[in-house]
Amino acid sequence: MPLCDLDKRVPHAKKILGIDVVVWWDRNEKKWQVFEDKCPHRLAPLSEGRIDQWGRLQCVYHGWCFNGSGGCKFIPQAPSDGPSVNTSKKACVAVYPTIEQNQILWFWPNSASQYKDIAVKEKPPYIRELDDPSYYTPTISTRDIPYGYEVLIENFMDPSHVAYAHYGIMAPPKAPSDKSR
Ligand code: FES
Repeated sequence: MPLCDLDKRVPHAKKILGIDVVVWWDRNEKKWQVFEDKCPHRLAPLSEGRIDQWGRLQCVYHGWCFNGSGGCKFIPQAPSDGPSVNTSKKACVAVYPTIEQNQILWFWPNSASQYKDIAVKEKPPYIRELDDPSYYTPTISTRDIPYGYEVLIENFMDPSHVAYAHYGIMAPPKAPSDKSR
């Protein structure tokens, strides 16, 4: 996700590789967090919740609040003199490892504990030019297109379509002369 597309004030719903995630700004840890978009209580999408006054992600359904580690810090309905039910592992949200690089937020699509530090050990490919203002004016945009990676690569390898399929949008290569005319 390009960082310029993310608003720190609200949680964002994203679907990546078929995985529903919620992306939210954790002002306490000063980093973007990527969680499974499913509240451990009744499975409501956390992306429809809000950031509470303490900077936690709050579920929209019954108000459970989660910190950046996925731990449940507050269950409004739990009696204050009762057991600390919020500390149960069952009350935690799955957290995906993340890293910011090239003005893009990346996440590792596995929340298992052995991958907790994977983003430090296995960084995404770094493209130096994307961080170099002398190289180009950074403009990042995203577009959801309902087809697979293979079709996209085939399209990239086929420059002969550009002057026609992107007519008037991208600078066309010099059109070949039409000898039949
Ligand atoms: S479903 Fe999230 S707090 Fe109940």
